Amino acid sequence: MLKRSFCLITFLVVVVIILSQCVGTKTDPRGPVYAGDESCKSCHRSAFDAHRTSAHHFASTIADKHSVLGSFLAPSNVFNFPGDVTVRMESDTSGLYQTAYQHGSPQEKGRFAVTIGQGRKAQTYLSFKENKYYQLPISYFTQVHSWANSPGFPATHPYFNRLVPATCFSCHSSYVNVTTTYEGMQRVEKFAENEVMYGINCERCHGPAKEHADFHTRHPQEKTAQHITRTGNLTRQQQVDMCAVCHSGLKTPQRSLFEFKPGDKLSDYIMADYLATASERQSNDVHGNQYQLLTASKCYRESNQLTCNTCHDAHAVNRNNLQAYNNQCLSCHQPATDRFCTNKALPPAALQQQCVNCHMPVQPSRVITLLPSGKEQPVADSLRSHLIKVYR
Ligand code: HEC
Ligand code: HEC
Ligand code: HEC
Ligand code: HEC
Ligand code: HEC
Ligand code: HEC
Ligand code: HEC
Repeated sequence: MLKRSFCLITFLVVVVIILSQCVGTKTDPRGPVYAGDESCKSCHRSAFDAHRTSAHHFASTIADKHSVLGSFLAPSNVFNFPGDVTVRMESDTSGLYQTAYQHGSPQEKGRFAVTIGQGRKAQTYLSFKENKYYQLPISYFTQVHSWANSPGFPATHPYFNRLVPATCFSCHSSYVNVTTTYEGMQRVEKFAENEVMYGINCERCHGPAKEHADFHTRHPQEKTAQHITRTGNLTRQQQVDMCAVCHSGLKTPQRSLFEFKPGDKLSDYIMADYLATASERQSNDVHGNQYQLLTASKCYRESNQLTCNTCHDAHAVNRNNLQAYNNQCLSCHQPATDRFCTNKALPPAALQQQCVNCHMPVQPSRVITLLPSGKEQPVADSLRSHLIKVYR
């Protein structure tokens, strides 16, 4: 009897040791200095909960019926090309597909693997084949609530072979497993399927925080943040660079943007576009170039404290709450001072409800247009201009 329980105890001890080793070696794919969002939750509940609803959290997701906004039900599941060619969005137990048909018979097809975009304006989808991601020919365009030909794709036929580079993930995710090789002179990126950390997570903005989380777990009485970059101690340029890394338009980085940490200088990662000339900065045309437009504005140049965080809560969604933004304008342009609006067409009380609409208007993009299903003419995406000025 004694011998049996001894054996049992020994067995249990061994099992516990093996299990604890498994847990101990389960490191973050980005490396042992990262902790992952779940480990921030216990101490930063409000930031955690706010972030779960944000566009950053949904900047990419696994493609399934929850994340894909467009319809899979006939007749709304069809996009027509000329010459009796259609693409249908179809689903079966193995997944979601875009299938091209010519005169009713199936041709090429692509499986939805990744959803890019929460769908504030649009969503686009990636398929995966032999270590490569491809952008699917049909996207979803929120403005018209329908499927649309993907931006920049041929209008004449469905195209399934547009490769997606790793840079796409470097603004829309927190990690992707990619290796770069050379085939002859050609640079080739190879991805491991589904090894993606979807969305922009805590440590994507704050940098690796394992040491911080471990320290505070061991020292619960310590109320001053240790082993983490304190955003408030950074210079204005460093603070704005934390956002500009993804919000300064498409460009060719010299270093992987995944390596960027708060406190770094963005000019060490990307050159030309980021340091654009004043006139280039003022064109509202690039993919998310809020950085160039804001820094070209007088509000930014002639005040030394304006940053993205003045108006935006880094964790929460403040969409469609323009009064909250108008109030930020008023903090620098107080009524009844010579810094207030000089427009005499409206009384001050009325002006105060519209600052943003007049001085940061929504404008159509001249670069990103989508051809919605069943329409002859492409429709432009619209952008909230971050060039704050008097628009005539
Ligand atoms: C055991 C508790 C604990 C855990 C776990 C923890 N933190 Fe903290 N963190 C703190 C404390 C305490 C502070 C200082 C008080 C404050 O600012 O809330 C802090 C502050 C911060 C700050 C603000 C720094 C500043 O002053 O600007 C950031 C950013 C931060 N933590 C990020 C994280 C992230 C990301 C994680 C998850 C990877 C995490 N923390 C996990 C306890 C924790
Ligand atoms: C790693 C890339 C990345 C970083 C860093 C980043 N963003 Fe974003 N941001 C995105 C992407 C991608 C979207 C679009 C997500 C979507 O709609 O799917 C976005 C969306 C937004 C939106 C629109 C949200 C909404 O709900 O309407 C705001 C505002 C924003 N970001 C502000 C910021 C600010 C401020 C910072 C710096 C503190 C920042 N971002 C840092 C990538 C980033
Ligand atoms: C330099 C960073 C960057 C790169 C690279 C990038 N994006 Fe984005 N993307 C953004 C930002 C920032 C936004 C939000 C812009 C805005 O609302 O003005 C965005 C928005 C989007 C949206 C709309 C999201 C929504 O919710 O409405 C889609 C779709 C999208 N990007 C797809 C892609 C695809 C596909 C690629 C790669 C081929 C890509 N992006 C590359 C930064 C980037
Ligand atoms: C888009 C970038 C971004 C993401 C994602 C992000 N943060 Fe932050 N966070 C910031 C910025 C910028 C500040 C400083 C805000 C300011 O100065 O107004 C901040 C401030 C903080 C602070 C200190 C002030 C506060 O609000 O309590 C904590 C703690 C924090 N973040 C934790 C987190 C945690 C935990 C997550 C993930 C759930 C997270 N952050 C995700 C950009 C981000
Ligand atoms: C951090 C302070 C600050 C904030 C916040 C701020 N501004 Fe300004 N703004 C300034 C300064 C400083 C100037 C330059 C001096 C002046 O004209 O008063 C300026 C200039 C302007 C101008 C004249 C621009 C030109 O090219 O002649 C307009 C219009 C303006 N701001 C509107 C706004 C609106 C609208 C908001 C809110 C969306 C806003 N500002 C938020 C500080 C700020
Ligand atoms: C003076 C205030 C102000 C500042 C500073 C500011 N924004 Fe905005 N931003 C706004 C307003 C207002 C909106 C529109 C919100 C809405 O429509 O709900 C907006 C919307 C956005 C969006 C969504 C874009 C769209 O077209 O829908 C993104 C992305 C964004 N801001 C990023 C940034 C980044 C990055 C910075 C810093 C470079 C920044 N913002 C600085 C006021 C500001
Ligand atoms: C109906 C559109 C409208 C609204 C709403 C509005 N403005 Fe203006 N604003 C203008 C126009 C137009 C001018 C130029 C007036 C002139 O020169 O006669 C102007 C001028 C200004 C200026 C001075 C620009 C300069 O040349 O130095 C500032 C600062 C400013 N507005 C800030 C604001 C703020 C802050 C709000 C919200 C309280 C606001 N505006 C609301 C249209 C508007």
